[in-house]
Amino acid sequence: MKKILYTLTAILLLGSGAKADEGMWIPLLLKKYNYEEMKAKGLKLTPEQLYDVNNSSLKDAIVWFNGGCTGEIISSKGLVLTNHHCGYDAIASNSTPENNRLDNGFWAKNNGEEIPIPGMWVSIVQRIEDKTDFVLNQLQGVSEKDRPAKLQEIYKKLIDEAKKGTAYDAQMREMFKGNAFYLFVFQKFNDIRLVGTPPQSVGKFGGDADNWMWPRHTGDFSMFRIYANKSNEAANYAPDNVPFTPKHSLPVNTKGVKEGDYAMIYGFPGRTNRYEFSQGIDLAVEKVNPTIVNLRDIRLKAWKEVMDKNEGDRLKLSADYAQIANYWKYFIGQTEQLKRLKVVDFKKESEAKFADFAKGKPQYENVLANVEKAYVAYRPIALQRTYLGEGILGISMNSMASSLMPFATNAKDNKDTAAANRAIKMAMANGEEFYASFFPSADEKIMAQILEMYYNNIPADQHPEYMKVILKSKGANNTEKFRAYAKMVYAKSFFASKEKFDAFCNAPTYKKLMADPCFAMVEGFYNHYLSNYKPQVDAFNAAIGPEARAYIKGLMELNPTKIFYPDANSSLRLTYGSVQAYEPKDAVKFDYMTTMDGIMEKYNPKDFEFNAPQKLLDLYKAKDFGIYKRADGKMPVAFITNNDITGGNSGSPVIDGEGRLIGLAFDGNWEAMSGDIVFDEKYKRTINVDIRYVLFLIDKLGGAPHIVSEMSLVQ
Ligand code: ARG
Repeated sequence: MKKILYTLTAILLLGSGAKADEGMWIPLLLKKYNYEEMKAKGLKLTPEQLYDVNNSSLKDAIVWFNGGCTGEIISSKGLVLTNHHCGYDAIASNSTPENNRLDNGFWAKNNGEEIPIPGMWVSIVQRIEDKTDFVLNQLQGVSEKDRPAKLQEIYKKLIDEAKKGTAYDAQMREMFKGNAFYLFVFQKFNDIRLVGTPPQSVGKFGGDADNWMWPRHTGDFSMFRIYANKSNEAANYAPDNVPFTPKHSLPVNTKGVKEGDYAMIYGFPGRTNRYEFSQGIDLAVEKVNPTIVNLRDIRLKAWKEVMDKNEGDRLKLSADYAQIANYWKYFIGQTEQLKRLKVVDFKKESEAKFADFAKGKPQYENVLANVEKAYVAYRPIALQRTYLGEGILGISMNSMASSLMPFATNAKDNKDTAAANRAIKMAMANGEEFYASFFPSADEKIMAQILEMYYNNIPADQHPEYMKVILKSKGANNTEKFRAYAKMVYAKSFFASKEKFDAFCNAPTYKKLMADPCFAMVEGFYNHYLSNYKPQVDAFNAAIGPEARAYIKGLMELNPTKIFYPDANSSLRLTYGSVQAYEPKDAVKFDYMTTMDGIMEKYNPKDFEFNAPQKLLDLYKAKDFGIYKRADGKMPVAFITNNDITGGNSGSPVIDGEGRLIGLAFDGNWEAMSGDIVFDEKYKRTINVDIRYVLFLIDKLGGAPHIVSEMSLVQ
């Protein structure tokens, strides 16, 4: 009886389209699954205008930006809009105290002034194909053990087939933890140039204090341009390449938004884990997340000291700092919200329902017991991985040293000289960038503290032998010993200076490498992990993989009328919903839009996170907002929507019902930091820069109206 009731409620709930705006949908399937609902919510376009292979559609204006972000094409000359934090590295590495584009902003006056960014790329999806039947068919009779290798073989075949005779790139993406498989074909561009950016006091206004939070006042955008060869094809950088003419570019809606307006976001969300088991969430909350936060704390404090002392050093460390700080705060927020929203309990409830359903069904009835078994074995050693990645290799010099591990393997007994030489070449190339922002005295402090934290928090029977070597250092207590050890390493290791590192690379020998104390430590910890823990981590993943796949399959059977969407996996998705305010807690209401009044409220010239350029203050005082202001005369800055996004969507366009750009997604809100694990309808919001603020900043603050003129503005 219970079971029937449950199925009934499930159907009722889902039949009414319950989980309104949750879902990162595959564009290929919109027509089949989502279109009617989108129309009911306010979409005015046809399904073909959203996604089409033969004719231009919205998807042709969406770019995968350098692998970690999204951008959109907003002019017929390949102008790309993305977030400031997505362009940050490119901007910072083109800044010096003398020509400080990061702090002062920058706008190219013409194409000739646009700055090529070596290594930067964008990709545009040409088509998506569902390859599920083919792949599953090929996998028939393949054992779990052989499955990963077989999958690689199948992927290769499909990718080669898709690329054949074209200049395109292709990738396979697994969906629903291996229940479905999609092919994505891309055109990839490698000549990308920086067009402009506001000063970071605007592009990162509010800094880490405001990060992941609403209400927000950040002008988080920067602009690039795609260049192509004279035949408008993707090409490597060449001085005489020309601006790319896209199949589609987004018109810009300058009318502005109001609460309830339809809004959709197209982009490349990175990772979610919405089908995670309760044990995985519990492990994250109790152990893994707090450890990541504490380990990152050490790095951030040491770097901050360096950055506060010297402007040149601040510019060198800014990008690394921002990146580590961003996810440091993310893990704090995720942990807090997973607890507040009692997500573990909620997951346990749905697992109990699954268990009911699974009874007597051989493919499903052992799933949860097997998951529990796998976690019981994994939990006691789970932090080994965190401490290796975020701890031992979080020490900058160690990560540099680890890049010579392939050299060590291949140079030993002259195993493979060619491979050993390749490893040296690669390390030397990495070294150029690495030593430009390496601060040995800060790194030494970091090393001492991380080693001590490892010692205190990893059970003694899980310590590597090498810990004994470290503890032989002189000191009255452990803290002193770790400090003395770190001091010795930075004094003696050739990784501690570019000159010594280059000298080694110019005449590398296995013997010299093995005698280096930094390399010895890295090897000590790494090999300890490889031989004692990696097999257990691999076994855990091998055990969980098939259960997670069966679990989702079972959920689909359990809810036959529900339309499922797959976890984010850096493939093109669309999410739709509307502009919406929210109530973060009892008796508090957050409005859906911020204005420049809020910048003035937060403004504090003594705090670099809340400083603002004088010119912005002057424009505000003079109310010189041009045509970009609201009807009430105020200058809008940011607004929120209930769209379902995650990291990777940074820079994604927020598009109205008629396919016009209204904003630029750049963050999520604190109350829904658990969003990568569970979508909470009540709290989950996306934070967007209002496109009118972007235009105002280019035109009035940046003095670059010629960039605005490239776009097609619709009033
Ligand atoms: N939280 C934003 C995201 O991950 C990044 C914001 C960058 N700003 C900062 N203060 N670190 O998309």
